[in-house]
Amino acid sequence: MTRRAVLPGSFDPVTNGHVDIIERARQHFDELIVVIMHNPAKAGRFPVAERVALMRDSLKDDRGVRVETFSDVLLVDICADLGAGVIVKGIRGPADYEYELPMARMNRQLAGVETFFLPSDPEWDHVSSSLVTEVASYGGDVSHLVPRAVWDALK
Ligand code: PNS
Repeated sequence: MTRRAVLPGSFDPVTNGHVDIIERARQHFDELIVVIMHNPAKAGRFPVAERVALMRDSLKDDRGVRVETFSDVLLVDICADLGAGVIVKGIRGPADYEYELPMARMNRQLAGVETFFLPSDPEWDHVSSSLVTEVASYGGDVSHLVPRAVWDALK
């Protein structure tokens, strides 16, 4: 049986923290599918199609990784479509855990899909898509926090 996992998120835009989680998670599955979605609870910055292109550009080693996008569909239904029994999420700290835990419980209750939490590398604990976008919008240098393609797009 192929061990397939889904790593979902807004990735608006992808940061070095996301790339680190993807590269580490990838090693534990036959296939890791990065699912990029619009989150209605968040103000969108980059159009989803551009987020997908930036993600594909940003993955140095994309062996065993696929990037897909879906809209207006439950994550558990996407998992069923893709044949993935597991969701992977990076956790930077308690705030992420509090945000993720109800979704993980809901997804398990809805469809028996388990969520595996992967602690972020401390190097990227303070990095979020919203913060790098804000700093860049004021002319701050975040080139060390995002992939090259994202830095070019933010500039
Ligand atoms: O990076 P984000 O914004 O925290 O990702 C959130 C996302 C897109 C994974 C979440 O909003 C989601 O799963 N959306 C799909 C719709 C859905 O299944 N909602 C119920 C979640 S329990």
